[in-house]
Amino acid sequence: MKKSRLLMITVVLLLVSGLAVHAEYRVESDEGEICAPVQTMILTPPEDVEAKFADVRFPHADHFSYSCMECHHMWDGYSDINACMDCHDATEYISRKEAKEDYIMYYQSAYHALCRDCHAEIGRKNTDIKKENKGKPDKDKVALLPNGPKSCNGCHSVKAE
Ligand code: HEC
Ligand code: HEC
Ligand code: HEC
Ligand code: HEC
Repeated sequence: MKKSRLLMITVVLLLVSGLAVHAEYRVESDEGEICAPVQTMILTPPEDVEAKFADVRFPHADHFSYSCMECHHMWDGYSDINACMDCHDATEYISRKEAKEDYIMYYQSAYHALCRDCHAEIGRKNTDIKKENKGKPDKDKVALLPNGPKSCNGCHSVKAE
């Protein structure tokens, strides 16, 4: 077990073919090494909830330009990472009006507040960029920021088998 106080992030990139990139993403800490899964995850509701929508596709590694704590907001940086639904475990809707503190413990509200709000925020910035670009020659246009889906089907896109 590594005792280093330093939090080191190592990215091992293996270029296998000209097209495929296999990446391993490791964070070293007091407790040893924590590996962040790089494959696309499929997020599903808790077992006792009957899904109304398709499951959600989540390309974890497309989000590593952010700090891990941006999403794993209770993580101390070296212990094991808890699943969101370890804490956000309420399976019934909780009204924000009635429960200012607790509404976010409903798993769906937590996910939407994290995922959807960030994509929406970037979307607003892109709307502003588009406005500023209007009428400008191409060479003076500012590039739009990369973003994730904002529509329901954009995220809820994993068809049941
Ligand atoms: C944009 C948000 C986001 C970012 C940034 C992010 N993660 Fe995650 N991560 C998630 C979500 C969502 C899950 C899967 C949901 C769950 O199981 O709680 C997950 C799952 C994980 C898991 C598996 C946890 C388990 O349930 O076993 C690990 C480990 C992990 N992330 C590590 C990291 C590390 C290390 C970083 C920084 C390099 C990172 N994540 C960055 C959102 C994020
Ligand atoms: C160890 C328990 C725990 C884990 C794990 C956890 N949360 Fe939370 N989360 C909380 C608590 C408690 C709050 C309310 C207090 C606060 O804002 O810190 C909260 C608040 C939030 C908020 C509202 C933040 C704000 O600024 O209002 C969002 C969104 C959220 N969590 C999403 C997530 C997602 C998504 C994950 C998994 C990637 C996750 N949480 C993992 C306990 C947790
Ligand atoms: C803090 C901001 C932020 C959060 C939080 C976030 N995303 Fe993203 N997401 C992005 C950005 C930026 C991109 C574009 C990345 C790129 O193209 O390099 C992206 C890309 C994506 C894509 C890929 C779209 C494609 O073209 O394949 C999906 C799907 C996605 N996000 C789903 C999610 C889900 C589900 C969550 C919550 C678990 C989430 N995102 C949380 C910022 C965020
Ligand atoms: C940025 C990604 C994202 C977008 C956009 C999004 N969702 Fe979700 N949604 C999630 C995640 C993540 C979960 C939690 C995992 C799960 O339940 O599959 C979820 C869960 C849900 C659930 C509970 C599970 C179920 O299937 O019944 C419903 C209902 C839902 N979303 C409806 C919507 C609707 C309606 C829209 C459009 C107005 C929408 N979502 C847009 C990411 C997203």
